[in-house]
Amino acid sequence: MYWAKTRSRARFNLATSGVGSFPLAELPCQPELEINGDSAYGYAPLQQAIARKCGVDADCVVTEMGTTMGNHLTMAALLEPGDDVLIEHPAYELLVSAALYFGAEVKRFARAEENGYALDPEAIRRVLTNKTKLIVVTNLHNPSSALAPDAVLGEVGDLARSVGAHALVDEVYLDAVYENTPPTSYRLGPEFIVTNSLTKVYGLSGLRCGWILAQPDLARAMWRLNDLFGVIPAHSAELLSVAALEQLDLIRRRARGVVEADRALLGEFLAQQSAVSAPRTAWGTTAFLRLHDGDVEELLARLRTDYETTAVPGRFFDMPDHFRIGMGVNTDMFREGLRRLGLALAGQPLV
Ligand SMILES: Cc1ncc(COP(=O)(O)O)c(C=O)c1O
Repeated sequence: MYWAKTRSRARFNLATSGVGSFPLAELPCQPELEINGDSAYGYAPLQQAIARKCGVDADCVVTEMGTTMGNHLTMAALLEPGDDVLIEHPAYELLVSAALYFGAEVKRFARAEENGYALDPEAIRRVLTNKTKLIVVTNLHNPSSALAPDAVLGEVGDLARSVGAHALVDEVYLDAVYENTPPTSYRLGPEFIVTNSLTKVYGLSGLRCGWILAQPDLARAMWRLNDLFGVIPAHSAELLSVAALEQLDLIRRRARGVVEADRALLGEFLAQQSAVSAPRTAWGTTAFLRLHDGDVEELLARLRTDYETTAVPGRFFDMPDHFRIGMGVNTDMFREGLRRLGLALAGQPLV
């Protein structure tokens, strides 16, 4: 995250993970803002709007500062030092750091590149023990954007239930499946906990509108625990979040064209390149590329200095032969960033 905040920016930024920012001026029906409101344990209109979006009861919804905080609160509520937490590999680094912060024993299970990073319940079964408290996955998968179908997630839930554990599914990228968007996996069983926000697919990161879906008793425990961290959210952000949730389809549509144009360009790029490869998906805002020959750190350093272009090093995913690139911000920038990446891969000067 430190790298993302301090080192990822460049003229041609392929190091993004979500869509471009949605400007306040384009939000129809702007709410009348107020500073203070009735948001002790959830601002009711926001609770209801999220519950409606997810098709769940409002008492399953814990609103908080974003998916990252949702993941943190989930672990804070469930983990004791020494508990086993099973986390996919490759994974969003903060998931691993958060589990370690709570003193958990982190065990990794592979999502194999040769299978398009598909979620594999067998790989989970191999590291499952009676000490397992939590199985952690992202859907869509960060960094590859692989989508796990319900049947597979159901098997993950069965594995969790068999040892009295929970399955945490971070769905912050799920709505980037634009056609037949899958409903939340929360509905698959009581062992599921889901985290999400308006950050990645809607370009509304600044609202810090995140939520957790959990069984009501666990949700209540999380509300109480959140008193330690946040106490009361910014009410003006809650009002804006309610307004945004009323216009979600419009907000999502704004970025869809950019994401899809970028994905088409990436497809052409990968078809022409033998130096890199990546499993293709028809959705998502990130792709995880393998560099077949050479050193990723050296490539990305040269890409930054000589070509003003950035991408995320695979070392942040414990896969140093890879790098992640992001779609959905600006297609002209993406096209030129890919062209420069191609030149860097070929060792050709910038023309
Ligand atoms: C898997 C995953 N979860 C959560 C986040 C952060 O989401 P939020 O802004 O809602 O905290 C990221 C950001 O990169 C992510 O990749």
